[in-house]
Amino acid sequence: MKFFIDTADINEIRQAKQLGILDGVTTNPTLVSRVKRPYIEVLTEISREVDVPVSAEAISTECDGMLKEARDLAKIGPNINIKIPLIEEGLKAVKILSGEGIKTNVTLCFSSIQALMAAKAGATYISPFIGRLDDIASEGMDLVDEIVTIYNNYGFATEVIVASIRNPLHVKHAALAGAHIATIPFSVFKSIIRHPLTDMGVAQFLEDYKKIPG
Ligand code: E4P
Repeated sequence: MKFFIDTADINEIRQAKQLGILDGVTTNPTLVSRVKRPYIEVLTEISREVDVPVSAEAISTECDGMLKEARDLAKIGPNINIKIPLIEEGLKAVKILSGEGIKTNVTLCFSSIQALMAAKAGATYISPFIGRLDDIASEGMDLVDEIVTIYNNYGFATEVIVASIRNPLHVKHAALAGAHIATIPFSVFKSIIRHPLTDMGVAQFLEDYKKIPG
């Protein structure tokens, strides 16, 4: 299973990279807006910082506009893939970009049938937003289960990125569901490593080590 970090903050990306288990980065306009620097500048810095896939979102809602943005964003670096929203115009764009060899991350997916359409259009990645479904009392993880089953049924190469992750349980369930990737906010990244019993055990062993006669 691959771990992506869901942030546009270069310091968080650097810290995640130092852990040695960073497989990719996802951004969106909301995340980039928090950095308070120009869009392309932020994405260029991230693309140069890592040698793993980086998702950069197109803003247009028309196919032609998405294509232009995608081709421009793809020039930032070879590791850039283009986030395209799961709307009709987006699917048209994904099909064309896939033919041009530009990788896509189809975003804002909230149903398994939408995910099937994205895979048929040639999406490199599909991003079901599970936290936003949980927020409206719908089981986000059921969506991941359905997508994984459908993709396995037909052998689609599209990789499932579990997105809109809010807590460590989301990461665990994504792994149990067989999702290829979880894109994880930095705060959750840190909390999945820690366990209070591990910390207590380390402290206890240090204490006991001091009692061993030299
Ligand atoms: C993923 O690609 C998205 O950027 C992200 O996971 C959205 O998460 P949110 O629902 O917390 O905004």
